[in-house]
Amino acid sequence: MKPIHVGLLGLGTVGGGTLTVLRRNAEEISRRAGREIRVVRAAVRNLSKAKKLAGDLPLTTNPFDVVDDPAIDIVVELIGGLEPARELVMQAIANGKHVVTANKHLVAKHGNEIFAAAQAKGVMVAFEAAVAGGIPIIKALREGLTANRIEWLAGIINGTTNFILSEMRDKGLPFAEVLKEAQALGYAEADPTFDVEGVDAAHKATIMSAIAFGIPMQFDKAYIEGISKLDSVDIGYAEQLGYRIKLLGIARRRENGVELRVHPTLIPEKRLIANVEGAMNAVLVQGDAVGATLYYGKGAGAEPTASAVIADLVDVTRLHTSDPEHRVPHLAFQPDQVHDVPVLPIEEVITSYYLRMRVEDKPGVLADITRILADSSISIEALIQKEAAEGEAHTDIIMLTHQTAEKNANAAIARIEALPVVQGKVVKLRMETL
Ligand code: NDP
Ligand code: HSE
Repeated sequence: MKPIHVGLLGLGTVGGGTLTVLRRNAEEISRRAGREIRVVRAAVRNLSKAKKLAGDLPLTTNPFDVVDDPAIDIVVELIGGLEPARELVMQAIANGKHVVTANKHLVAKHGNEIFAAAQAKGVMVAFEAAVAGGIPIIKALREGLTANRIEWLAGIINGTTNFILSEMRDKGLPFAEVLKEAQALGYAEADPTFDVEGVDAAHKATIMSAIAFGIPMQFDKAYIEGISKLDSVDIGYAEQLGYRIKLLGIARRRENGVELRVHPTLIPEKRLIANVEGAMNAVLVQGDAVGATLYYGKGAGAEPTASAVIADLVDVTRLHTSDPEHRVPHLAFQPDQVHDVPVLPIEEVITSYYLRMRVEDKPGVLADITRILADSSISIEALIQKEAAEGEAHTDIIMLTHQTAEKNANAAIARIEALPVVQGKVVKLRMETL
Protein backbone atom coordinates (compact mmCIF):
# COMPACT_ATOMS: atom_id res chain seq x y z
CA MET A 1 0.00 0.00 0.00
CA LYS A 2 1.28 3.50 -0.72
CA PRO A 3 2.60 5.53 2.22
CA ILE A 4 0.37 7.98 4.08
CA HIS A 5 1.83 11.47 3.84
CA VAL A 6 2.31 13.58 6.94
CA GLY A 7 3.12 17.27 7.24
CA LEU A 8 4.62 18.52 10.50
CA LEU A 9 3.94 21.99 11.85
CA GLY A 10 6.82 22.54 14.28
CA LEU A 11 10.07 20.69 14.88
CA GLY A 12 10.69 21.74 18.47
CA THR A 13 10.64 19.46 21.53
CA VAL A 14 7.60 17.43 20.44
CA GLY A 15 7.96 17.81 16.67
CA GLY A 16 11.62 16.81 16.89
CA GLY A 17 10.77 13.86 19.13
CA THR A 18 8.05 12.77 16.70
CA LEU A 19 10.39 12.84 13.69
CA THR A 20 13.10 10.98 15.62
CA VAL A 21 10.80 8.19 16.85
CA LEU A 22 9.06 7.85 13.48
CA ARG A 23 12.45 7.38 11.84
CA ARG A 24 13.86 5.06 14.52
CA ASN A 25 10.80 2.79 14.74
CA ALA A 26 9.68 3.12 11.11
CA GLU A 27 9.49 -0.59 10.45
CA GLU A 28 7.66 -1.46 13.66
CA ILE A 29 5.21 1.40 13.14
CA SER A 30 4.47 0.40 9.52
CA ARG A 31 3.80 -3.17 10.63
CA ARG A 32 1.17 -1.82 13.01
CA ALA A 33 -0.33 0.86 10.76
CA GLY A 34 -0.46 -1.35 7.67
CA ARG A 35 1.46 1.16 5.58
CA GLU A 36 4.39 3.51 5.85
CA ILE A 37 3.82 6.79 7.71
CA ARG A 38 6.06 9.18 5.80
CA VAL A 39 6.81 12.76 6.87
CA VAL A 40 7.07 14.72 3.63
CA ARG A 41 7.36 18.33 4.81
CA ALA A 42 7.80 20.38 7.98
CA ALA A 43 7.26 24.02 8.90
CA VAL A 44 9.46 25.91 11.35
CA ARG A 45 10.30 29.56 11.96
CA ASN A 46 14.06 29.21 12.06
CA LEU A 47 15.36 27.07 9.18
CA SER A 48 19.00 26.91 10.26
CA LYS A 49 18.03 25.70 13.76
CA ALA A 50 15.99 22.83 12.30
CA LYS A 51 18.32 21.82 9.47
CA LYS A 52 20.43 19.25 11.32
CA LEU A 53 17.45 17.33 12.66
CA ALA A 54 15.47 17.60 9.41
CA GLY A 55 18.25 16.14 7.20
CA ASP A 56 16.73 15.69 3.73
CA LEU A 57 13.18 16.51 4.91
CA PRO A 58 11.95 19.62 3.00
CA LEU A 59 11.41 22.59 5.31
CA THR A 60 9.37 25.76 4.95
CA THR A 61 8.84 28.84 7.07
CA ASN A 62 5.28 29.19 5.81
CA PRO A 63 3.06 26.69 7.67
CA PHE A 64 0.31 27.17 5.06
CA ASP A 65 2.64 25.45 2.56
CA VAL A 66 2.05 22.31 4.63
CA VAL A 67 -1.65 22.78 5.29
CA ASP A 68 -2.39 23.52 1.62
CA ASP A 69 -0.12 20.83 0.17
CA PRO A 70 -2.41 18.46 -1.79
CA ALA A 71 0.04 15.58 -1.28
CA ILE A 72 -0.38 15.68 2.52
CA ASP A 73 -3.01 13.46 4.17
CA ILE A 74 -2.41 14.27 7.86
CA VAL A 75 -1.29 17.57 9.37
CA VAL A 76 0.42 17.32 12.75
CA GLU A 77 0.16 20.61 14.63
CA LEU A 78 3.04 20.97 17.10
CA ILE A 79 3.66 24.70 17.13
CA GLY A 80 1.49 25.43 20.18
CA GLY A 81 -0.51 28.50 21.20
CA LEU A 82 -3.83 29.69 19.80
CA GLU A 83 -2.91 31.59 16.65
CA PRO A 84 -1.90 30.72 14.00
CA ALA A 85 -2.47 27.15 15.28
CA ARG A 86 -6.28 27.54 15.20
CA GLU A 87 -6.29 29.00 11.71
CA LEU A 88 -3.92 26.29 10.43
CA VAL A 89 -6.00 23.47 11.92
CA MET A 90 -9.24 24.91 10.55
CA GLN A 91 -7.63 25.34 7.14
CA ALA A 92 -6.31 21.76 7.20
CA ILE A 93 -9.83 20.51 8.00
CA ALA A 94 -11.34 22.67 5.27
CA ASN A 95 -8.79 21.09 2.89
CA GLY A 96 -10.08 17.63 3.90
CA LYS A 97 -6.97 16.66 5.89
CA HIS A 98 -6.91 14.79 9.17
CA VAL A 99 -5.24 16.57 12.07
CA VAL A 100 -3.16 15.36 14.98
CA THR A 101 -2.33 17.90 17.67
CA ALA A 102 -0.64 18.06 21.07
CA ASN A 103 -2.03 21.53 21.68
CA LYS A 104 -4.20 21.39 24.82
CA HIS A 105 -4.60 25.16 24.87
CA LEU A 106 -6.13 25.03 21.39
CA VAL A 107 -8.36 22.00 22.09
CA ALA A 108 -9.62 23.34 25.46
CA LYS A 109 -10.38 26.80 24.01
CA HIS A 110 -11.54 26.01 20.48
CA GLY A 111 -12.24 22.27 20.56
CA ASN A 112 -16.01 22.71 20.13
CA GLU A 113 -15.55 24.69 16.90
CA ILE A 114 -12.76 22.42 15.63
CA PHE A 115 -14.62 19.16 16.23
CA ALA A 116 -17.80 20.52 14.64
CA ALA A 117 -15.83 21.48 11.53
CA ALA A 118 -14.08 18.10 11.42
CA GLN A 119 -17.39 16.26 11.85
CA ALA A 120 -18.94 18.23 8.98
CA LYS A 121 -15.96 17.50 6.74
CA GLY A 122 -15.67 13.81 7.72
CA VAL A 123 -12.08 14.09 8.96
CA MET A 124 -10.45 13.12 12.24
CA VAL A 125 -8.83 15.40 14.80
CA ALA A 126 -6.78 13.36 17.26
CA PHE A 127 -5.28 14.83 20.43
CA GLU A 128 -3.86 12.07 22.65
CA ALA A 129 -0.68 14.06 23.32
CA ALA A 130 -2.67 17.03 24.59
CA VAL A 131 -3.27 15.38 27.98
CA ALA A 132 -0.65 13.75 30.22
CA GLY A 133 2.09 13.41 27.58
CA GLY A 134 2.80 9.76 26.83
CA ILE A 135 -0.03 8.28 28.94
CA PRO A 136 -2.84 6.99 26.70
CA ILE A 137 -5.51 8.59 28.88
CA ILE A 138 -7.60 9.91 25.98
CA LYS A 139 -7.75 6.41 24.49
CA ALA A 140 -8.72 5.00 27.90
CA LEU A 141 -11.48 7.55 28.45
CA ARG A 142 -12.81 7.49 24.87
CA GLU A 143 -12.68 3.75 24.34
CA GLY A 144 -11.47 1.60 27.22
CA LEU A 145 -13.96 2.93 29.78
CA THR A 146 -16.87 3.31 27.40
CA ALA A 147 -19.17 1.02 29.44
CA ASN A 148 -18.92 3.22 32.50
CA ARG A 149 -20.71 6.17 33.90
CA ILE A 150 -17.63 8.08 34.95
CA GLU A 151 -18.12 9.64 38.37
CA TRP A 152 -14.92 11.64 38.72
CA LEU A 153 -11.34 11.91 37.66
CA ALA A 154 -8.37 13.52 39.32
CA GLY A 155 -4.89 13.85 37.94
CA ILE A 156 -1.40 15.16 38.29
CA ILE A 157 -1.43 16.46 34.74
CA ASN A 158 1.31 19.04 34.68
CA GLY A 159 4.83 17.66 34.70
CA THR A 160 6.52 21.01 35.31
CA THR A 161 4.69 21.78 38.56
CA ASN A 162 5.01 18.22 39.82
CA PHE A 163 8.73 18.41 39.09
CA ILE A 164 8.96 21.73 40.95
CA LEU A 165 7.01 20.46 43.98
CA SER A 166 9.08 17.25 44.14
CA GLU A 167 12.45 19.00 43.86
CA MET A 168 11.47 21.67 46.40
CA ARG A 169 10.35 19.03 48.89
CA ASP A 170 13.14 16.49 48.39
CA LYS A 171 16.14 18.74 47.76
CA GLY A 172 14.96 21.98 49.34
CA LEU A 173 15.79 23.78 46.07
CA PRO A 174 14.29 27.24 45.43
CA PHE A 175 11.27 27.55 43.14
CA ALA A 176 12.97 29.68 40.45
CA GLU A 177 15.94 27.32 40.12
CA VAL A 178 13.75 24.25 39.65
CA LEU A 179 11.55 26.03 37.11
CA LYS A 180 14.67 26.85 35.04
CA GLU A 181 15.63 23.16 35.12
CA ALA A 182 12.13 22.12 33.97
CA GLN A 183 12.42 24.60 31.08
CA ALA A 184 15.84 23.23 30.10
CA LEU A 185 14.42 19.69 30.09
CA GLY A 186 11.68 20.77 27.63
CA TYR A 187 8.79 20.21 30.07
CA ALA A 188 7.56 23.79 30.41
CA GLU A 189 5.18 25.64 28.10
CA ALA A 190 6.46 28.51 25.95
CA ASP A 191 4.93 30.73 28.66
CA PRO A 192 5.80 28.90 31.90
CA THR A 193 3.19 30.85 33.88
CA PHE A 194 0.69 28.51 32.17
CA ASP A 195 2.34 25.66 34.08
CA VAL A 196 2.95 27.44 37.37
CA GLU A 197 -0.48 29.10 37.59
CA GLY A 198 -2.40 25.91 36.78
CA VAL A 199 -3.66 27.03 33.36
CA ASP A 200 -2.06 24.13 31.46
CA ALA A 201 -3.54 21.63 33.93
CA ALA A 202 -6.93 23.33 33.52
CA HIS A 203 -6.70 22.91 29.74
CA LYS A 204 -6.12 19.20 30.26
CA ALA A 205 -8.80 18.81 32.94
CA THR A 206 -11.26 20.57 30.62
CA ILE A 207 -10.48 18.14 27.79
CA MET A 208 -10.84 15.10 30.05
CA SER A 209 -14.10 16.39 31.57
CA ALA A 210 -15.62 16.74 28.10
CA ILE A 211 -14.76 13.17 27.14
CA ALA A 212 -15.62 11.69 30.53
CA PHE A 213 -19.06 13.28 30.88
CA GLY A 214 -20.08 14.00 27.26
CA ILE A 215 -20.13 17.79 27.73
CA PRO A 216 -18.67 20.59 25.59
CA MET A 217 -15.27 22.09 26.38
CA GLN A 218 -15.90 24.76 29.04
CA PHE A 219 -12.41 25.97 29.85
CA ASP A 220 -13.57 29.48 30.72
CA LYS A 221 -15.66 28.07 33.61
CA ALA A 222 -12.82 26.10 35.20
CA TYR A 223 -11.57 27.21 38.61
CA ILE A 224 -7.78 27.66 38.45
CA GLU A 225 -5.25 28.10 41.23
CA GLY A 226 -1.55 27.35 40.69
CA ILE A 227 1.40 26.69 42.96
CA SER A 228 3.03 30.13 42.97
CA LYS A 229 1.43 31.11 46.29
CA LEU A 230 2.01 27.75 47.92
CA ASP A 231 4.12 28.15 51.07
CA SER A 232 6.71 25.49 51.90
CA VAL A 233 5.52 25.75 55.53
CA ASP A 234 2.25 24.13 54.43
CA ILE A 235 4.06 21.37 52.54
CA GLY A 236 5.82 20.60 55.83
CA TYR A 237 2.69 20.70 58.00
CA ALA A 238 0.81 18.55 55.48
CA GLU A 239 3.59 15.95 55.74
CA GLN A 240 3.34 15.96 59.52
CA LEU A 241 -0.36 15.15 59.12
CA GLY A 242 0.33 12.32 56.65
CA TYR A 243 -0.47 14.18 53.42
CA ARG A 244 1.36 15.28 50.25
CA ILE A 245 0.46 18.42 48.33
CA LYS A 246 0.01 17.98 44.58
CA LEU A 247 -1.39 20.23 41.88
CA LEU A 248 -4.50 18.25 40.89
CA GLY A 249 -6.91 18.68 38.03
CA ILE A 250 -10.31 17.44 39.17
CA ALA A 251 -13.57 16.85 37.30
CA ARG A 252 -16.48 15.48 39.28
CA ARG A 253 -20.10 14.84 38.44
CA ARG A 254 -22.63 16.38 40.83
CA GLU A 255 -26.40 16.28 40.70
CA ASN A 256 -26.63 19.92 39.59
CA GLY A 257 -23.57 20.12 37.32
CA VAL A 258 -19.90 19.24 37.21
CA GLU A 259 -16.97 20.43 39.24
CA LEU A 260 -13.99 21.45 37.11
CA ARG A 261 -11.06 22.72 39.12
CA VAL A 262 -7.28 22.87 39.41
CA HIS A 263 -5.55 23.70 42.68
CA PRO A 264 -2.89 22.49 45.10
CA THR A 265 -4.49 19.59 46.94
CA LEU A 266 -3.65 17.57 50.03
CA ILE A 267 -3.75 13.82 49.29
CA PRO A 268 -3.19 11.08 51.89
CA GLU A 269 0.43 9.97 51.46
CA LYS A 270 -0.58 6.31 51.32
CA ARG A 271 -2.39 6.84 48.00
CA LEU A 272 -0.36 5.75 44.97
CA ILE A 273 -1.00 9.06 43.28
CA ALA A 274 0.50 10.96 46.23
CA ASN A 275 3.81 9.26 45.41
CA VAL A 276 4.01 10.36 41.78
CA GLU A 277 7.18 12.43 41.62
CA GLY A 278 9.17 14.54 39.19
CA ALA A 279 7.72 15.16 35.73
CA MET A 280 5.63 12.00 35.97
CA ASN A 281 1.86 12.32 35.58
CA ALA A 282 -0.96 10.14 36.87
CA VAL A 283 -4.70 10.20 36.37
CA LEU A 284 -7.24 8.41 38.55
CA VAL A 285 -10.59 7.70 36.95
CA GLN A 286 -13.57 6.40 38.89
CA GLY A 287 -16.13 4.53 36.77
CA ASP A 288 -19.29 3.01 38.20
CA ALA A 289 -18.56 -0.45 36.75
CA VAL A 290 -14.78 -0.68 36.81
CA GLY A 291 -14.20 1.25 40.06
CA ALA A 292 -10.98 3.23 40.35
CA THR A 293 -8.36 2.96 37.60
CA LEU A 294 -4.97 4.66 37.62
CA TYR A 295 -2.87 5.70 34.60
CA TYR A 296 0.75 6.62 35.17
CA GLY A 297 3.68 7.67 33.01
CA LYS A 298 5.81 10.48 31.64
CA GLY A 299 3.68 13.58 31.25
CA ALA A 300 6.06 15.72 29.23
CA GLY A 301 9.23 15.65 27.16
CA ALA A 302 10.16 14.93 23.56
CA GLU A 303 9.81 11.16 23.11
CA PRO A 304 7.06 10.43 25.67
CA THR A 305 4.87 13.02 23.94
CA ALA A 306 5.96 11.75 20.51
CA SER A 307 4.72 8.33 21.61
CA ALA A 308 1.19 9.78 21.95
CA VAL A 309 1.42 11.77 18.70
CA ILE A 310 2.47 8.66 16.78
CA ALA A 311 -0.26 6.53 18.39
CA ASP A 312 -2.72 9.04 16.92
CA LEU A 313 -0.96 8.91 13.56
CA VAL A 314 -1.32 5.12 13.50
CA ASP A 315 -5.00 5.34 14.50
CA VAL A 316 -5.73 7.89 11.79
CA THR A 317 -3.79 5.85 9.22
CA ARG A 318 -5.79 2.73 10.03
CA LEU A 319 -9.12 4.58 9.90
CA HIS A 320 -8.22 6.85 7.00
CA THR A 321 -10.50 5.09 4.52
CA SER A 322 -13.24 4.11 6.99
CA ASP A 323 -16.75 5.49 6.92
CA PRO A 324 -16.75 8.62 9.18
CA GLU A 325 -20.03 7.46 10.78
CA HIS A 326 -18.26 4.42 12.19
CA ARG A 327 -15.30 6.15 13.79
CA VAL A 328 -15.03 6.83 17.51
CA PRO A 329 -16.60 10.27 18.07
CA HIS A 330 -14.15 13.04 18.96
CA LEU A 331 -15.58 13.45 22.46
CA ALA A 332 -16.48 9.74 22.85
CA PHE A 333 -20.21 10.59 22.86
CA GLN A 334 -22.10 10.96 19.58
CA PRO A 335 -22.09 14.68 18.65
CA ASP A 336 -25.87 15.03 19.14
CA GLN A 337 -25.51 13.40 22.58
CA VAL A 338 -23.08 15.95 23.99
CA HIS A 339 -25.10 17.65 26.75
CA ASP A 340 -24.60 21.17 27.95
CA VAL A 341 -24.20 20.44 31.68
CA PRO A 342 -23.07 23.53 33.64
CA VAL A 343 -19.73 23.77 35.39
CA LEU A 344 -20.42 24.67 39.03
CA PRO A 345 -18.87 27.83 40.49
CA ILE A 346 -16.14 27.15 43.05
CA GLU A 347 -18.44 28.29 45.90
CA GLU A 348 -20.63 25.24 45.17
CA VAL A 349 -17.75 22.76 45.23
CA ILE A 350 -17.84 20.27 48.10
CA THR A 351 -14.52 19.18 49.54
CA SER A 352 -12.45 19.00 52.73
CA TYR A 353 -9.97 21.65 53.85
CA TYR A 354 -6.61 22.25 55.40
CA LEU A 355 -6.64 25.50 57.39
CA ARG A 356 -3.63 27.22 58.90
CA MET A 357 -3.99 30.26 61.10
CA ARG A 358 -1.63 32.35 63.19
CA VAL A 359 -3.15 33.02 66.60
CA GLU A 360 -2.29 34.56 69.96
CA ASP A 361 -0.91 31.92 72.25
CA LYS A 362 -3.42 32.25 75.10
CA PRO A 363 -6.27 30.19 76.63
CA GLY A 364 -9.68 30.13 74.94
CA VAL A 365 -8.44 30.85 71.40
CA LEU A 366 -8.90 27.30 70.16
CA ALA A 367 -12.37 27.16 71.72
CA ASP A 368 -13.41 30.37 69.86
CA ILE A 369 -12.24 28.92 66.56
CA THR A 370 -13.79 25.50 66.96
CA ARG A 371 -17.09 27.15 68.00
CA ILE A 372 -17.22 29.07 64.71
CA LEU A 373 -16.59 25.87 62.77
CA ALA A 374 -19.24 24.00 64.78
CA ASP A 375 -21.75 26.84 64.14
CA SER A 376 -21.13 26.28 60.41
CA SER A 377 -21.53 22.48 60.79
CA ILE A 378 -17.88 21.95 59.82
CA SER A 379 -16.35 19.08 61.73
CA ILE A 380 -12.65 18.80 62.40
CA GLU A 381 -10.78 15.68 61.35
CA ALA A 382 -7.33 16.52 62.75
CA LEU A 383 -5.67 19.41 64.52
CA ILE A 384 -2.16 20.51 65.42
CA GLN A 385 -1.40 23.42 67.71
CA LYS A 386 2.28 24.29 67.60
CA GLU A 387 4.08 25.48 70.71
CA ALA A 388 4.94 29.16 70.40
CA ALA A 389 8.61 29.73 69.69
CA GLU A 390 10.60 31.25 72.53
CA GLY A 391 9.77 34.95 72.88
CA GLU A 392 6.89 34.69 70.36
CA ALA A 393 3.35 35.74 71.33
CA HIS A 394 1.79 33.93 68.36
CA THR A 395 1.66 30.36 67.19
CA ASP A 396 0.20 28.27 64.34
CA ILE A 397 -2.95 26.18 64.48
CA ILE A 398 -3.45 23.70 61.63
CA MET A 399 -6.76 21.95 61.09
CA LEU A 400 -8.12 19.40 58.66
CA THR A 401 -11.89 19.54 58.21
CA HIS A 402 -14.45 17.10 56.92
CA GLN A 403 -16.32 17.88 53.70
CA THR A 404 -18.35 21.05 53.34
CA ALA A 405 -19.37 23.43 50.55
CA GLU A 406 -16.70 26.01 49.71
CA LYS A 407 -19.08 28.91 50.45
CA ASN A 408 -19.64 27.48 53.93
CA ALA A 409 -15.89 27.15 54.54
CA ASN A 410 -15.33 30.71 53.28
CA ALA A 411 -18.00 32.15 55.60
CA ALA A 412 -16.47 30.38 58.61
CA ILE A 413 -12.96 31.54 57.63
CA ALA A 414 -14.17 35.16 57.39
CA ARG A 415 -15.51 34.91 60.95
CA ILE A 416 -12.25 33.34 62.17
CA GLU A 417 -10.19 36.08 60.51
CA ALA A 418 -12.34 38.69 62.27
CA LEU A 419 -11.38 37.33 65.72
CA PRO A 420 -8.97 39.77 67.41
CA VAL A 421 -6.75 36.86 68.47
CA VAL A 422 -6.17 35.78 64.85
CA GLN A 423 -3.30 37.42 62.99
CA GLY A 424 -3.56 37.91 59.24
CA LYS A 425 -5.31 35.63 56.78
CA VAL A 426 -6.22 31.98 57.21
CA VAL A 427 -4.41 29.76 54.68
CA LYS A 428 -6.93 27.45 53.02
CA LEU A 429 -5.98 24.45 50.90
CA ARG A 430 -8.37 21.84 49.57
CA MET A 431 -8.03 18.19 50.44
CA GLU A 432 -9.23 15.06 48.64
CA THR A 433 -9.15 11.52 49.96
CA LEU A 434 -9.50 10.05 46.43
P1 NDP B 1 8.60 24.11 21.03
O1 NDP B 1 8.61 25.57 21.33
O2 NDP B 1 9.73 23.29 21.48
O3 NDP B 1 8.45 23.91 19.45
C1 NDP B 1 7.59 24.68 18.66
C2 NDP B 1 7.94 24.46 17.21
O4 NDP B 1 6.99 25.12 16.40
C3 NDP B 1 9.30 25.01 16.80
O5 NDP B 1 9.88 24.17 15.83
C4 NDP B 1 8.96 26.36 16.19
O6 NDP B 1 9.90 26.77 15.24
C5 NDP B 1 7.66 26.02 15.50
N1 NDP B 1 6.79 27.17 15.29
C6 NDP B 1 6.23 27.98 16.21
N2 NDP B 1 5.45 28.90 15.61
C7 NDP B 1 5.53 28.66 14.29
C8 NDP B 1 4.97 29.28 13.14
N3 NDP B 1 4.16 30.32 13.24
N4 NDP B 1 5.26 28.78 11.94
C9 NDP B 1 6.08 27.70 11.81
N5 NDP B 1 6.64 27.08 12.86
C10 NDP B 1 6.37 27.56 14.08
O7 NDP B 1 7.22 23.56 21.62
P2 NDP B 1 6.90 22.08 22.13
O8 NDP B 1 7.39 21.09 21.15
O9 NDP B 1 7.33 21.96 23.54
O10 NDP B 1 5.30 22.12 22.17
C11 NDP B 1 4.54 21.97 21.00
C12 NDP B 1 3.10 21.69 21.40
O11 NDP B 1 3.04 20.46 22.13
C13 NDP B 1 2.47 22.73 22.31
O12 NDP B 1 1.11 22.84 22.00
C14 NDP B 1 2.65 22.14 23.70
O13 NDP B 1 1.69 22.60 24.61
C15 NDP B 1 2.42 20.68 23.38
N6 NDP B 1 2.99 19.74 24.32
C16 NDP B 1 4.29 19.87 24.73
C17 NDP B 1 4.84 18.93 25.57
C18 NDP B 1 6.25 19.02 26.02
O14 NDP B 1 6.66 18.18 26.85
N7 NDP B 1 7.04 19.97 25.53
C19 NDP B 1 4.06 17.79 26.04
C20 NDP B 1 2.69 17.74 25.55
C21 NDP B 1 2.20 18.70 24.73
P3 NDP B 1 11.24 27.56 15.68
O15 NDP B 1 11.96 26.64 16.65
O16 NDP B 1 11.96 27.71 14.42
O17 NDP B 1 10.79 28.81 16.34
N1 HSE C 1 4.11 21.93 30.09
C1 HSE C 1 3.44 20.67 30.15
C2 HSE C 1 3.76 19.99 31.45
C3 HSE C 1 3.87 19.80 29.00
O1 HSE C 1 4.68 20.44 32.15
O2 HSE C 1 3.08 19.04 31.81
C4 HSE C 1 3.05 18.54 28.88
O3 HSE C 1 1.74 18.81 28.49
